[in-house]
Amino acid sequence: MPRKIAAGNWKMNGTEASLAELAALTANHPAPSVSVLLCPPATLLARMSATAGPIATGGQDCHAAVSGAHTGDTSAQMLADAGATYCLTGHSERRTDHSETDAIVAAKSQAAYDAGLTAVICIGETLAEREAGTTLAVITAQLDGSVPATANAQNTVIAYEPVWAIGTGLVPTTDQIAEVHAHIRAQLSDKDIPLLYGGSVKGTNAAEIFAVPHVDGALVGGASLKAADFSPIITALENA
Ligand code: 13P
Repeated sequence: MPRKIAAGNWKMNGTEASLAELAALTANHPAPSVSVLLCPPATLLARMSATAGPIATGGQDCHAAVSGAHTGDTSAQMLADAGATYCLTGHSERRTDHSETDAIVAAKSQAAYDAGLTAVICIGETLAEREAGTTLAVITAQLDGSVPATANAQNTVIAYEPVWAIGTGLVPTTDQIAEVHAHIRAQLSDKDIPLLYGGSVKGTNAAEIFAVPHVDGALVGGASLKAADFSPIITALENA
């Protein structure tokens, strides 16, 4: 798989009709020169995986256990069985809505590895943390707590998503992205793990973001829902 990744997180959006966007995306990119990943809601994962062609699919979350009495949850093995090769872990919406701690994120990431999935481990500071000047300390602690010791360049991708940039249209400056990505790269210097930026990435700002050192791609929310919006981001990464 190419190291550069254009990843889409559909969050809690999408029904059968949305598979038309996947068809449009595969028509636009029959042989992408970068890795393209879509993480649909679990209800669409099997159907999307069956027709995704060159596009990889992933879950948005997994349980840390393989199976058992966990109503409403989905194990990493189940995601793999549905055709996924990736799983997001520790997205800020999971950390906030479901009180996921770094330890839980690490356990889920290890479960993803055990199922043969690549974990896309999400980290990022809140606006209050940035304004308090603690961004790098927060990132250090999240990496320490959320990334299993068994992480390597094959089983792990890190997505830096400042919470205040998600779904807000606010984007850090390229200097701010560069500072955090260099920090992550230095902290994981023994592992050549791909690093994605996420938070209000659009076709109009993707090229500028992809030019930042140590940015190997993007994790895209809103602009991944429509092929017309996601395609320019894929193309920008191919040209980066
Ligand atoms: P937006 O691209 O909608 O800001 O979402 C980013 C995100 O949370 C991707 O996981």
